[in-house]
Amino acid sequence: MKANKPTIGRLYGVGVGPGDPELITLKARRILSQVPVIFAPQKDDRGKGYASGIIGDIIKGSEQKVIKLVFPMGKDATELVDFWRKAAESIWHHLSKGLDCAFVTEGDPFLYGTFIYAFEVLKKSHPEVSIEVIPGVSSINATAARALVPLASGSQRIAILPATYEDKNIRETLEHFDTVVFLKIHSVFDKVLDILKELNLVDKCVYVARCTTEDEEIITDITKLRGKKLDYFSLLIVRR
Ligand SMILES: C[S@@+](CC[C@H](N)C(=O)[O-])C[C@H]1O[C@@H](n2cnc3c(N)ncnc32)[C@H](O)[C@@H]1O
Repeated sequence: MKANKPTIGRLYGVGVGPGDPELITLKARRILSQVPVIFAPQKDDRGKGYASGIIGDIIKGSEQKVIKLVFPMGKDATELVDFWRKAAESIWHHLSKGLDCAFVTEGDPFLYGTFIYAFEVLKKSHPEVSIEVIPGVSSINATAARALVPLASGSQRIAILPATYEDKNIRETLEHFDTVVFLKIHSVFDKVLDILKELNLVDKCVYVARCTTEDEEIITDITKLRGKKLDYFSLLIVRR
């Protein structure tokens, strides 16, 4: 008699929030405590990635398998294609055995989350996989809350910029939006500071690093950050 083919497992893209485990949603918690396999992205092979650190108290070591997916930082999209292909193969390998899998990301999975790449590769290569995304509290919402800076109200407009922007875009965005959030600010801080000075916006800023964790930093005098090595997990809110 032929053995039954296992049904394909379901893939969950799970947002685990900005750092404080109390900001993990109930749904994310339930799924993470139930799935047999959890994929956790990180920038190198050492220690734990940021997202895995957040979910430490949920994982039951002996019953669940946590698989690290290493995505080196500082590489461009073409260099990373190979890493994504390998990651998607590893995820498919488990799904095809009928195992449900969760892919954790800090904040929200669909806001510049690592999950997006895995999602897009798998959707193309294995469209039969059922995928569910569990939204998370993004670093943007969390920093606004911690710094007590409302993001937008009424008809105000808000822009979100990742660090791969040109000077011209930075200037234009700052001129056209009431609130601008700079993600990945660590790599371009001094350049952005120069433009903020030109536009007289330095005192309208708040810089937040490692929001909602024990190492959180909230800085309003952002001039003192010039020339410093800043944390990858930091962002800048500019609110007119
Ligand atoms: C690849 S994006 C991921 C965003 C994430 N998916 C989210 O919803 O917040 C990484 C950037 O998010 C910001 N970030 C993520 N977690 C943060 C935290 N706890 N505190 C401050 N900024 C954070 C930083 O700007 C960092 O460079």
